[in-house]
Amino acid sequence: MKLGHNNQLSIKVRINIIQNMKRALFLFSLFSSIFAEDFITEAEYAKLLYENPRGVGCSSCHGSKGEGKVLATYIEKGVKKNLEAPPINNLSYEMFKEGISKPSKIMPSYFLTNFESQSLYRYISSFKKSQ
Ligand code: HEC
Repeated sequence: MKLGHNNQLSIKVRINIIQNMKRALFLFSLFSSIFAEDFITEAEYAKLLYENPRGVGCSSCHGSKGEGKVLATYIEKGVKKNLEAPPINNLSYEMFKEGISKPSKIMPSYFLTNFESQSLYRYISSFKKSQ
């Protein structure tokens, strides 16, 4: 029958629409659950920041655990000298903050937010505790 066929067709269309809506809802809830939680933890974020803040990583000079590093050696008046980035995993937060904000000839200036400085400080200091 023609009528019956039409009804069947419209049911099929409706089922299709409902399935599409379900799919959309599923995708929506999937996305919102991803965005509801942080992609990365604060420690992971600080690690990224430490290794690559604004393009120049702290780790390339201060070492991956803030242990300090010899950047270069040179001879001054016949004496061999080291150019060093000091260890920074053993500082008070005040010293740490001062260290990243005071002008330096070697270390680049960073304009970090309080949250960034605190995350970095916690991250780097954690290495000292675990030694
Ligand atoms: C290009 C190398 C270089 C990079 C990159 C660098 N530093 Fe430094 N940093 C130094 C040197 C060298 C010093 C020693 C003081 C000076 O000569 O400027 C220093 C000093 C410091 C101090 C003071 C230490 C103290 O004992 O008072 C802190 C804190 C510090 N850096 C943290 C950081 C952090 C955090 C980063 C990344 C956001 C960073 N540095 C990136 C080279 C670097």
